[in-house]
Amino acid sequence: MKEDVVDVTKDEATLPAPRDAAADEPGEPLLVVENLVKHFPVKGGFPVRRTVGAVQAVDGIDLTVHVGESFGLVGESGCGKSTTGRLVTRLLEPTSGRISYRGQDISRATRKQLAPIRSQIQMIFQDPYSSLNPRQTVGKIISGPMEINGINPQGGREKRVRELLEIVGLNPEHYNRFPHEFSGGQRQRIGVARALALEPKLIVADEPVSALDVSIQAQVVNLLQQVQKELGIAFLFIAHDLAVVRHFSQRVAVMYLGKVIEVGDRDSIYTRPRHPYTHALLSAVPEVSLDGGEEARRERIRLAGDVPSPISPPSGCRFRTRCWKAQDKCATEEPPLVQISGNRSGHLTACHFPEEPTIEARDKDIILDPALAALEDSSEG
Ligand SMILES: Nc1ncnc2c1ncn2[C@@H]1O[C@H](COP(=O)(O)OP(=O)(O)O)[C@@H](O)[C@H]1O
Ligand code: SF4
Ligand SMILES: [Mg+2]
Repeated sequence: MKEDVVDVTKDEATLPAPRDAAADEPGEPLLVVENLVKHFPVKGGFPVRRTVGAVQAVDGIDLTVHVGESFGLVGESGCGKSTTGRLVTRLLEPTSGRISYRGQDISRATRKQLAPIRSQIQMIFQDPYSSLNPRQTVGKIISGPMEINGINPQGGREKRVRELLEIVGLNPEHYNRFPHEFSGGQRQRIGVARALALEPKLIVADEPVSALDVSIQAQVVNLLQQVQKELGIAFLFIAHDLAVVRHFSQRVAVMYLGKVIEVGDRDSIYTRPRHPYTHALLSAVPEVSLDGGEEARRERIRLAGDVPSPISPPSGCRFRTRCWKAQDKCATEEPPLVQISGNRSGHLTACHFPEEPTIEARDKDIILDPALAALEDSSEG
């Protein structure tokens, strides 16, 4: 894979031609992130302010999102999910590491170099209120990206916007309305229509339903899933809510303090997690059950203490200050993210003393909202 990654860090005015679109077969790598690092400098001192440290927001992560795949990124608040999303969309400059999109190294590409692929990578944001310009009509908001990119669809932009409104389940007649005339869920649909306007290949959705009521969350998740399946768009779906990610994602990566600590297909992560942190996250869901029955009595793992500061993360394994299995080795040796014995192919875990695979045991631990559960049943049937 590495051989066909083109280095554009040299003095080139434009990026080399992207891999032929015909090569974008499902299963081919679309976005490849290697050893990606983002440190935010911390300034201090008086009278001369100098850099006294760094927030290690993202500290050496590897990820691959395949063509048409939905990839979930989960972890507690502050673990570096949004920073990762902003790095791969190049809203942030990486400190080091490599981001390749369709075989091109875009990690150091300039605005001008990125222009030809900008339209292919779109973002959906968490807050459907602040992410839409209140002074623009829906028509203007959705056609804006087409205008900026000089895209003139057949039949005109207005026709295309009306089609997009229909695709996301909104009334095409509402073309001239303003954002305040819509509910939160409808606004997020407008955000989805705007992201779709440029026919992207990859959508980075950063907590796209976290600000919505749970019943509305299921509807928007369902829409995103339809879009992903029917239009073949790959998703990097970022969320702190494991239940939402489980419904949407074919593969899932779990982050802790700037690192990916476990990654695998959805079933491996949710039913056979090997990393103690993944176990804890899965068992940390509220102690309620849909029918008030047995599973409410299941023993939950309570994570002790707070997440350490990303300015001075623990040595060795970053989870060791909260891990009930930690031993001396955990403080001195960082566990590599590898396929440990007992894992299925593609399931990687970064732990010296992993949990036993507990088949089926975790499945019931994720308590889905009835609306999400219904979606899940319908997509499996
Ligand atoms: N622009 C910034 N400057 C300094 N620190 C930042 C900046 N953006 C994020 N951080 C810090 O980086 C860490 C990761 O943040 P973020 O990626 O937003 O996490 P998440 O999305 O998982 O909640 C946090 O400690 C956060 O405070
Ligand atoms: S490496 Fe050690 S501290 Fe880290 S998760 Fe595994 S057992 Fe816990
Ligand atoms: Mg975030």
